[in-house]
Amino acid sequence: MEVDQNPRVLQQKLKALKKTGKSVGLVPTMGFLHEGHLSLVRQARRENDVVAVSIFVNPIQFGPKEDLASYPRDFERDAALLEAEGVDFIFAPEVADMYPEGYGTYVDVEGEVTGRLCGASRPGHFRGVATVVSKLFNIVAPERAYFGSKDAQQVAVIRRMASDLNFDFEIVACPIVREADGLALSSRNVYLSESKRQDALVLSQSLFMAREMIEAGERSAFAVRDAISERIRQVPSAEVDYIEVVDAFSLEPLETLSGTVLIALAVKVGKPRLIDNLQIEVK
Ligand code: PAJ
Repeated sequence: MEVDQNPRVLQQKLKALKKTGKSVGLVPTMGFLHEGHLSLVRQARRENDVVAVSIFVNPIQFGPKEDLASYPRDFERDAALLEAEGVDFIFAPEVADMYPEGYGTYVDVEGEVTGRLCGASRPGHFRGVATVVSKLFNIVAPERAYFGSKDAQQVAVIRRMASDLNFDFEIVACPIVREADGLALSSRNVYLSESKRQDALVLSQSLFMAREMIEAGERSAFAVRDAISERIRQVPSAEVDYIEVVDAFSLEPLETLSGTVLIALAVKVGKPRLIDNLQIEVK
């Protein structure tokens, strides 16, 4: 396994490898890896000759009041985990490698796909994500790039961008990895105290309840949303940022459930803001 910090150096190495006919899979991350990240890495390992994982806490996707400075980091541990998964390249640039003096180009994905959900509560977030992911795509030039459905809106934004800008590779969305009790794995879970971690279960539990309602025949988005809201209200430390019932691809709000439905939540449980979602095919 090689660790590269310089974009140009990695780009040249991968270019040479691709000339020999090897396929490259890219897994973009911000590090502090857990089983969610590793599930993406394993899928990339199965489907490509060469696997590159980026570890970069991208400052431009954090708002001024967000947790950039305190975002958890542990490069040594991450590198050991990735080595054990048989990863070929870690790309770990510094901020100045990605955004040198004079940097001035940003990718803005407009419309419903960024205007709602996390886009509404985190202005500028998806501009930062789209920009860094575009740079990673150009540096690595992968055949396939792997993203987690945990960040369902991120997947929708990257698909929109890749289609709009004619990026020529496959975007693979991988399932959400959860703890045995349902909590979706997240680097931010380390901020949860034991009691808040218990409270945080309300995200997945309310989504599982919504799934049962839909499976039992409920088709009103309002009724589903209302039931989730009621369930979350029972946990005093939980403060809802949004509960949205939308089409999974366009992210347009639904009144009647049909097609691929995305139910997405953002809830503050004490300090950390946690997200979770459920995708369900409704006939
Ligand atoms: P990060 O939060 O580190 O997540 C990296 C990838 O791991 C994302 O695609 C995310 O959806 C996926 N992931 C996180 N938790 C998961 C879980 N429980 N199950 C499945 N997949 C999970 O998302 C980012 O970084 C950044 O925005 C990035 C795309 C790297 C751009 O900076």
